[in-house]
Amino acid sequence: MRSNGHPPRITVIGTGYLGLTHAVCMADLGHQVLALDIDEQKIGKAIRGEVPFFEPDLEPLLRKNIESGRLRFTTSFAEAGEFGDAHFLCVGTPEGESGQADLSFVYAAADALAPHLASPCLIVGKSTVPVGTARQVMGRVRATAPAGEAVHIAWNPEFLREGFAVADSLSPDRIVLGVTSGWAEELMRRVYATALAAGIPLLVMDLETAELVKVAANAFLATKISFINAMAEVCEQVGADVIPLADALGHDARIGRRFLSPGLGFGGGCLPKDIRAFRATASLLGVDSVVSLLTAVDGINLGRRDRVIELAREAVGGTLDGKRVTVLGIAFKPNSDDIRDSPSLAICDRLAEQGAIVSVHDPVAMPNAARKRPGLMCAPSVSAAAQGAHVLLHLTEWADYRAIDPAALAEVVAQRVIIDARCCLDRELWSDAGWSVRVLGRP
Ligand SMILES: NC(=O)c1ccc[n+]([C@@H]2O[C@H](COP(=O)([O-])OP(=O)(O)OC[C@H]3O[C@@H](n4cnc5c(N)ncnc54)[C@H](O)[C@@H]3O)[C@@H](O)[C@H]2O)c1
Repeated sequence: MRSNGHPPRITVIGTGYLGLTHAVCMADLGHQVLALDIDEQKIGKAIRGEVPFFEPDLEPLLRKNIESGRLRFTTSFAEAGEFGDAHFLCVGTPEGESGQADLSFVYAAADALAPHLASPCLIVGKSTVPVGTARQVMGRVRATAPAGEAVHIAWNPEFLREGFAVADSLSPDRIVLGVTSGWAEELMRRVYATALAAGIPLLVMDLETAELVKVAANAFLATKISFINAMAEVCEQVGADVIPLADALGHDARIGRRFLSPGLGFGGGCLPKDIRAFRATASLLGVDSVVSLLTAVDGINLGRRDRVIELAREAVGGTLDGKRVTVLGIAFKPNSDDIRDSPSLAICDRLAEQGAIVSVHDPVAMPNAARKRPGLMCAPSVSAAAQGAHVLLHLTEWADYRAIDPAALAEVVAQRVIIDARCCLDRELWSDAGWSVRVLGRP
């Protein structure tokens, strides 16, 4: 083994949210890291020390590790194949046409790397994939790699949260590792030596179970969110309040308060596509219980968007046509500029379809929104976005929006109505300033 006696050398294939963070954190732990992407622009930026997305703390760490000489970037699979002992696959697995995961990027990356694997090494999948993918990758790679059976495979799913990606990568709650050989496990123990010495649990299992841990974790989190949102629907029917309900449930140690925040529901590049992909897998496997569970979870989640539109329509007198609607927040969650499957962007589209004049604000996601929806009216400030508004929709819970002065904002709108779809604004403060406040799930 080339890495015997030496710290394992690491390549990271795919430098998006996950891969760039992983590469930087691996280098920060002292490893020699070569990160690869097929997107030359991304690699160009990374070489200049620029992070092409918003992630707190990542850019200084990127620069520090480039300067230390531990982190380099390339677009060459030949260079990556020659360099690495452990090759982390971090490419995207977006939603396919009928909900299943699109694995074309995973297979393309594995196929491009394989011909350059001439000595024993380990391919480590980090992308979120349907159960069975790891073995497919292993078969494909071994068929074309010069090292053949000496190429091992492991699956090491990633649980980082955008907005906390660096902290989550450096100090995860646990490291999940699916392996088929002691050799692979030993190499991975060396890769994660610092984390293991710090007491972070390493859970070693077979490949299939490791693949399933990730999708099961996301299915559970999505279910928890949709559960409380289903309770919010009941609260709306009977005039009860979902916030004290969630607090009281959360005090039960068996339940816990995290991921029990009612509101507009989940979005982003992970939960929606992951539950749909898991549902597609379960359907192929004939596991109807998972199919119906995740269908309900997805449906409840999307239903919250309908409810916001309904409340907005009511607030402006029954029709949105020609009404000015201000949307606060475009990112799918705060501390991120990610607008993939953003509930807010979906609502903007629906408002526009119904004839509303929509003006949006977001502290960091507007460049992405403007690229994806060139016609969207993006305002440079909350106050500019709210000029002449008939209704304000609070759709992403940025701390900036909790700091708004409702009295000052009242001066620029046409009608003082706000719908708090994230259930976190200070209702009294807004009411005292003359606003009519509607909160999802609250009387
Ligand atoms: N974003 C997250 O918070 C997060 C968290 C946990 C797991 N994941 C999983 O990680 C994976 C990656 O997600 P992401 O958000 O980083 O996606 P992303 O779209 O931000 O990044 C994917 C990167 O892969 C690159 N790529 C595509 N094909 C390639 C190829 N053949 N060779 C090399 N590079 C290639 C793309 O250019 C892109 O830079 C997904 O499976 C996702 O579900 C993401």
